[in-house]
Amino acid sequence: MKSKNVTVVGLQWGDEGKGKVVDALGRICKYVVRFCGGANAGHTVVVNDDKFSMHLIPCGILYSHTINVIGNGVAFDPATALDEISALHARDVHIGADNFCISGAAHVVMPYHKLMDRLSERKLGGGKIGTTARGIGPCYSDKANRSTAIRVAELTNPQSLCEKVRRIVALKNAFFQATYEAEPLDADEIAAEYAEYGQQLAPMIRNTGPMLRQAIADGERILFEGGQGSMLDVDHGTYPFVTSSSVTACGVPTGAGVPPAAVGQVVGLIKAYTSRVGAGAFPTEQDNELGERLRERGREYGTTTGRPRRCGWFDAFAVRYAAELSGTSELALSLLDVLTGIDELKICTGYRVGGKSLDPFDPDVMGRAECVYETMPGWQDDISSCRNFQDLPAQARDYVSRLEQLIGRPIGFISIGPDRAQSILHNTSIESLVP
Ligand code: GDP
Ligand code: IMO
Ligand code: MG
Repeated sequence: MKSKNVTVVGLQWGDEGKGKVVDALGRICKYVVRFCGGANAGHTVVVNDDKFSMHLIPCGILYSHTINVIGNGVAFDPATALDEISALHARDVHIGADNFCISGAAHVVMPYHKLMDRLSERKLGGGKIGTTARGIGPCYSDKANRSTAIRVAELTNPQSLCEKVRRIVALKNAFFQATYEAEPLDADEIAAEYAEYGQQLAPMIRNTGPMLRQAIADGERILFEGGQGSMLDVDHGTYPFVTSSSVTACGVPTGAGVPPAAVGQVVGLIKAYTSRVGAGAFPTEQDNELGERLRERGREYGTTTGRPRRCGWFDAFAVRYAAELSGTSELALSLLDVLTGIDELKICTGYRVGGKSLDPFDPDVMGRAECVYETMPGWQDDISSCRNFQDLPAQARDYVSRLEQLIGRPIGFISIGPDRAQSILHNTSIESLVP
């Protein structure tokens, strides 16, 4: 039987507007599940001028009918999660054990992970990755290392947690002191702090894999909320300038504990141009007046770190690769309004490397790729209040259609402003969304 589920993934370098689209789709889903990354994500939802920035809590939390799940594949920072929970409570958003749960098998981001992230980046100097400093890479390193990892369920047993933290912190301190001449961390202080987090979170810690598999058997609809973007994927992105988890739809089964068929329809998120925050190749980057204009119009400053994002033209060659990787069934296009007022729009349709056309796409050569562009006329009229595809100027409609052709997938949803209402349903085949 065909799955009713929906997976939302970014097809660029993150910040494609996943928060807004997860919110739109959350309306028709019972479960909203994070399966990758951690508090490096920053997902924004705007409801009637009220802006919510979510780092760890799934964006479905704003609805009263959803159950929001942190899957086992997430690098979970309990301090950030508790801060987010308090901030949501302060804004009258209900969040408790009845509508939010965390996999006991998710890995805990510890203070030494954040310290390691900062020290390592500092040491790399000009060669740094440009991480969000949220301890993501070091946490996943310990997950792969096994003997130095702590999982969420372990937070609820203070005694064994304390013993384990003492052992791990002794190893970390020896390394930090020898390598970075850093001050030692206090193991007992950390153990006490994290045991306290464990006590507060205990009612929400669950064995989420079986819970989600049961939901599927019961015919409930699950929405998998991707973090980051495909070009940041640890295997398929612009390595080593990537994050440390599997962020494409291929990461859903392992990151959530569901069978591959549960991925369902994959909605690939694209913004109408490209942005990237942090270091690494970016062939269509416009480090000039145009890039500056996109940054200001699109308010391209990191939701998590506040860093200015690098901006450039849409790269259809890279997006087509990312769309194929995730088995994308349809696209959602965001920030189309940001292109208003630009006379001519360029779209990258391919790369030349060493004078030859590149085929197939290869993220490893992006650093020396020369872009092949085609140019389309822009539009001048404000589109932020359009609510139907036909309301858009002809040039905007042509731009949308050309992206569909180049990527080889329909665009189901178009966003023309940050608010929930600033949305156009277009060529979607998601049942219950079809206009
Ligand atoms: P995410 O990480 O993919 O969820 O994206 P972010 O939330 O980090 O960044 C997207 C930003 O663009 C947020 O500030 C959104 O409120 C905003 N946004 C989303 N869709 C649109 C849109 O269609 N137009 C404009 N102007 N802003 C948008
Ligand atoms: P959302 O979900 C944009 C980038 C960082 C850096 C690289 C590695 O909001 O789209 P990390 O801290 O993960 O080790 O950093 O990945 N990065 C993101 N860029 N949006 C994100 O998330 C990102 N999460 C990580 O800037 O280049
Ligand atoms: Mg973001």
